[in-house]
Amino acid sequence: MALLIRDVGEMQEASRGLRLSGSTIGVVPTMGALHRGHLELIRTARRHASHVITTVFVNPAQFGPSEDFARYPRNLDSDLALAAEAGTDIVFAPDVAAIYPDGYSTYVSVTKLDEVLEGRIRPGHFRGVATVVLKLFHLTRPHFAVFGQKDAQQSIIITRMVHDLNVDVKIVIAPIVREHDGLALSSRNVYLTPAQRNEAPVLYRGLQLADEMIRSGERKSERITTRVKDLIKEKTSGGTDYVSVANAETLEELADVESGQHVLVSLAVRFGSTRLIDNITVVVP
Ligand code: PAJ
Repeated sequence: MALLIRDVGEMQEASRGLRLSGSTIGVVPTMGALHRGHLELIRTARRHASHVITTVFVNPAQFGPSEDFARYPRNLDSDLALAAEAGTDIVFAPDVAAIYPDGYSTYVSVTKLDEVLEGRIRPGHFRGVATVVLKLFHLTRPHFAVFGQKDAQQSIIITRMVHDLNVDVKIVIAPIVREHDGLALSSRNVYLTPAQRNEAPVLYRGLQLADEMIRSGERKSERITTRVKDLIKEKTSGGTDYVSVANAETLEELADVESGQHVLVSLAVRFGSTRLIDNITVVVP
């Protein structure tokens, strides 16, 4: 069983104690509704830490007014059991008022990186993410934190934040966990109707198509994004928000890809009110 902590002061006490006793703390920030993707992050943390803290907090600051904060799946009991089984020692699950008490006024913005891709479509999203992650770092005092490549832009933004603000936490990025048909695991997959669920693997097929095109010599991003968008249009009822070919470190859009470059191919597709994102990184041959 993992220890459940809900109180901010108690979390600070516990992490202070762990630090003083020489523990190596690894933290895995999540919004709960844990699936195999999250559990893989916990297992990664387990390999390197003497104490693993998994945080479960549906962070209102990162949801837009018309987004799914209210209906976001919440299931603390099953999260506790799953987190413990994967090797969590402490689950920190504060409530909203403890993280954002009355009068709360301080936010962290990682500029420029937050203006592209997901940030363009979800204004304020990454400000909410960066703010809560920095708060969670202060509360759990980790030596390292594990994030998923699934949210590639988020991982890049957090890495930038800890660098810029001299936060002494190592950021570890774990690979994307997928279903057998290629669909990336996501807490939001539960919103999909059976028909949408059948179509959703086309996102990954689109990414694989981009990968094949680059590997067989295509260098023009527009030709790649057009083919991927066409595939999604043809095979699904989803609406494509973007298909992007960008520098994998700076997120700068690339008109042409060049040999040796690390390229992030990413996309976002709406199925009704459910938005799915996915990505792959390609090293251009
Ligand atoms: P959440 O969407 O719950 O994701 C928590 C972590 O799990 C993130 O680092 C995410 O990239 C990772 N993850 C999700 N699906 C994955 C998959 N299929 N394979 C591998 N990793 C996966 O991301 C957030 O929560 C929040 O923004 C948070 C960082 C907790 C701040 O509120």
